[in-house]
Parts: sequence; structure tokens; C-alpha cells
Amino acid sequence: MTDGDLNYQIDFETDDEIGTLIKSFNSMTKELATGREQIALSGEMLKQQNAELEKSRQYIEIVLKNISAGVISIDNKGTIMTINKAAESMLDINSRDILNHNFKDVLKNDYLKIANKINTQVAQGQETLKIPLSATVSGAPKHFFLNFNTLKNDQDKNVGAVLVFDDVTELEKAQRVAAWREVARRIAHEVKNPLTPIKLSAQRLKRKYGKEINDDVFTSCADTIVEHVDLIKNLVNQFAAFAKFPDANVTQCRIENIVLETIALYREGLENVDIKSRFAENIPMLKLDQQHMKQAFINLVDNAVYAVNKKGTILIDISYDEILKIVRIEIADTGKGISDKEKTKLFEPYFSTKKSGMGLGLAIVHSIISDHNGVIRVQDNKPEGAKFIIELPAYS
Ligand SMILES: Nc1ncnc2c1ncn2[C@@H]1O[C@H](COP(=O)(O)OP(=O)(O)O)[C@@H](O)[C@H]1O
Ligand SMILES: [Mg+2]
Repeated sequence: MTDGDLNYQIDFETDDEIGTLIKSFNSMTKELATGREQIALSGEMLKQQNAELEKSRQYIEIVLKNISAGVISIDNKGTIMTINKAAESMLDINSRDILNHNFKDVLKNDYLKIANKINTQVAQGQETLKIPLSATVSGAPKHFFLNFNTLKNDQDKNVGAVLVFDDVTELEKAQRVAAWREVARRIAHEVKNPLTPIKLSAQRLKRKYGKEINDDVFTSCADTIVEHVDLIKNLVNQFAAFAKFPDANVTQCRIENIVLETIALYREGLENVDIKSRFAENIPMLKLDQQHMKQAFINLVDNAVYAVNKKGTILIDISYDEILKIVRIEIADTGKGISDKEKTKLFEPYFSTKKSGMGLGLAIVHSIISDHNGVIRVQDNKPEGAKFIIELPAYS
């Protein structure tokens, strides 16, 4: 009985005091037994409820893990309570470093400014906020769209906030390029047509009256017109290439060959620039417009050659992700690198830091890659220089 056998009953009947004692002993053990059963029962129920809670917690976690938007929640003191996988990868942070910390302690620079802005507006009674945010994440420029919502419990009490955000970098880039393409298309169209008659007229004037007038000013003016018309034509042609009038001519081909052909163009005359290539063995054939793709690589290698300024290494690496079915081409150089501010403008037409640069090279590259349903982005190369990364889908 000392071991806890509460079913023990003393089987003895008398009417005296001992009998009363035995009776009360028996009823006490009975009560204890039911009490213990009840405790066991409620314990069982608690266990079940806990399991259910755990199940729904896991379920919420799985949902959060698998949505493509970044989700971060904080409690009403500003402590970061949850952060999902998408948020971790978009911001290139590890949840371990920020979970259970106050956002004020883990946020820096731009992020802290945004957080403080949100804080003030929440203090003024705003419950939802939509904010565009540009930031540099691990050396790559990013545009996010933030949705901020305060969380209320059943009693309408503030229990914290949730931040949902999307990476709209590619979307914005594509929109800007599309707008520029339209501009380029119009300019090319309007400017190109009158150029040929202007040039022909100047040539005719020179031919017809050149000898008769026999005046240096006359001849040199006519020559200047012809020369500058050619310059404008060249410009318009670049615009046209950017707006891409000719339709893509897509064939099955090996991207490795296009890269090798591009590198061959630079073999001569660059003594201290080492252009290397490294190809994985499992690269599939791709459906590409060879001409356009080569143009894209030429533009990229051109920039890299310029950036290393006669001395350095350029490495073109091609790999294939068999699970995602994506061919990844990295063009890395050991040149002067690109500042974060420049990175945000790089792919826009007319952005150039070179004296005689047109700034159309990367805009053209971007539109060629987009036409192949691919993406291109830039990041810092380690330990120095710039790295352009192209990802192309491989359709079987
Ligand atoms: N590999 C690189 N390293 C450093 N800066 C680069 C690199 N590629 C491009 N850039 C920068 O991007 C700008 C735009 O390039 P691009 O569109 O090709 O125009 P352009 O070459 O005519 O200047 C360049 O002026 C340069 O500042
Ligand atoms: Mg260029």
C-alpha cells in the first residue's frame, strides 16, 4: 500500500471504533483512487491539447516556410518573434542572429530608419502601412515592397505587428527597361528615316558643286555632315539593337561555344588580362538566339576588360542546377568593382561612368537575357571586382 495501491480495502466488519476507523480508511483510499484517476485523465487531456497546439504551430510554421513573401513578426515590445525562410534569404540573414532580439538592436542604417518611421506612424495610430524600400543586401541592390500590419487580440489590445514583404527588384528593372525600350523604339524610328536623305544630299552637293565652287569650307562642311550623319546612324543602330527590332532567331545550341567564341575575340592584344572559362560537364543544350547571346557576352566581357584596366583576370563559369533546371553563367573580374549606388542604375540605358560610354551595353544585355526568360544580376566579386550572374532556364 505504501507503493500506492489505492484499491486496497480492509475487509473486516465490527461495530466498534476500529470498525469506524476501517470504514473511514476504506472511503479515504477510494477517494484518493478517484482523485488519482482524475489527475491522470486531465493529464491525458492536457497532453492531447498540447499535441494539437504543437500540430497547429507546426502547420503555421510550414505555411510560413513555404510562402514566397518574407514574413517577420514582432511582439508589442519590439522583440522579433518569427522570421520565415523567404525573409531570411531575401535579407541574407540568419534567424538565429535576430530571433528574440529587439529590432532596434539588430537593425542598422537604412533598415533602422525605416523601422523608426514605421514606429512613429504606428504611434500616431496607423495600423497598416505600405512602404517601398531600396536597400543593398550583401552587395546587391534590392527593391522591396513592405506591408506592415499591427496585430490586435480579441480584446482589441495591441499584441505586436507583422511585416510582410516582397522582393520587387526584377519586376522594377523589367518595367524600367520596358519603358526605355519604348523610348528607344520611337527615337530610332523618328531619327533614322531622315538620315539617309541628309547624307545623300550632302554627298550630291559636294559632287555637283564641289569642283565649281572649289572652296575648302564648302567641302569640309559637306564632309562634316556626312561624317556626323554616320555617327548619328551608329547611335540610332545601338538604340535599335536595344529596342531589338529584329525578331529572335532561336536554335538549339551550346552556350559554352558562344562563350568560347566571345573569348576568342579578346585573345589578341590583351597581354596581362587573363580570360578564363570553366564549364561544368552537365550543361544541357539551350534554345538561344546565338547572335544576341554572343552580343550579350561581348558587352559583358567588354566591360570587364575595361574594368580590369589592362591587368587582371576575368573568369566565365558555367554551371547547371539539375533540380531547378537552371544554367548559371557567372562573369567575374578582378577590376575596380562597382559601388552600391552604381549597382542600382547599371542596367538602365544611358548610365555610364566612362567618358565616351554610351551606357547602352548592359541595358542591351538585360533585354537579351529577359528575352530568353532569364535574369541577370550583379554583385561584388570576392576579394575584388564585380561579378555578373546570369540564370537561364533550360527547357527540355
Ligand atoms: N565589370 C564591371 N566592373 C566595373 N564597372 C562596370 C562593369 N560593368 C559595367 N560597369 C559599370 O556600368 C556602367 C554601364 O555599363 P554599360 O551599360 O556597358 O555602358 P558603358 O560600357 O557604355 O559605360 C559602366 O560605365 C561602368 O561604370
Ligand atoms: Mg559597356
